[in-house]
Amino acid sequence: MKIQAALQSATEAFAKAGIESAAVDAEILLAHILNISRGELQAKAIIDSDFEQTEKYQELVEKRAQRIPLQHLTGVAHFRRLTLKVGPGVFVPRPETEVVTQLAVDALRNAGSEEPIAVDLATGSGAIALSLAVEVPNAKVFAIELSDDAMQYTRVNFAELAPDALIVQGDLADAFPELNGQVDVLVSNPPYIPDEMIPIYPEVHLHDPSLALYGGADGLDVVRKVDEAARRLLHAGGTLIIEHADMQGEAVRELLLASGWRQVRTHKDFVGRDRATTALA
Ligand SMILES: C[S@@+](CC[C@H](N)C(=O)[O-])C[C@H]1O[C@@H](n2cnc3c(N)ncnc32)[C@H](O)[C@@H]1O
Repeated sequence: MKIQAALQSATEAFAKAGIESAAVDAEILLAHILNISRGELQAKAIIDSDFEQTEKYQELVEKRAQRIPLQHLTGVAHFRRLTLKVGPGVFVPRPETEVVTQLAVDALRNAGSEEPIAVDLATGSGAIALSLAVEVPNAKVFAIELSDDAMQYTRVNFAELAPDALIVQGDLADAFPELNGQVDVLVSNPPYIPDEMIPIYPEVHLHDPSLALYGGADGLDVVRKVDEAARRLLHAGGTLIIEHADMQGEAVRELLLASGWRQVRTHKDFVGRDRATTALA
């Protein structure tokens, strides 16, 4: 089959299924099947070469049109400098979390210690923790994740991308008692969607694990646990960074101020929405 015809028919199928990034997804899936980069695929599309794996492409196109996440079909998610293994059972890292991670990278670089200590609570695929380990190589990075299903991916990503970073399985409330009062930067992207607010995208509400999404009636149950764990773990002057929903900035600031945090500030993501709140211990 010709590349251009295949891309066009996949794009139409995706647009009909309500996928906003229809043309991009069509290219990413075909590049994945041909085991080439998207740029190489676009070059081949210009000369409109043939490809042989038509059935395999059709199979993936049908799955994507059923709103199975693109990353579950390719098996990877790109996040900052990393290519992370993902699939059913683990939360697919989001572009807005790249902005949150930058806050943690900056805080870690400014920590003023030769080997600053960073902790990522609720690490999922390891996106934040592994970015810290790779981008701030003198840091000692610790991460915790509760879910058995997620941990299948977490362990592989840690082993491949940052074998010196420590990953443990457990509840973040009890994380790393041996580090009490010693941590420079504590970052978390916990579940924060209120239980009643079902996300609109089928990729999210049907395929991201519930444990990764929902945080109780106001969405802040796990944020409260992060607050408590962070007060135990950070040393005086250490930095806390919590990702939250765009409408939760004020609630998270109030929660942290009531717990005695200093310099509590909310930061926006690249589309100008409140996305993370930082504070000093
Ligand atoms: C929104 S996902 C974020 C994953 C990752 N940090 C990221 O940014 O891509 C939230 C993660 O919190 C984990 N989680 C939920 N409750 C937890 C708890 N009590 N202790 C540790 N991890 C928890 C979920 O399994 C999920 O992996």
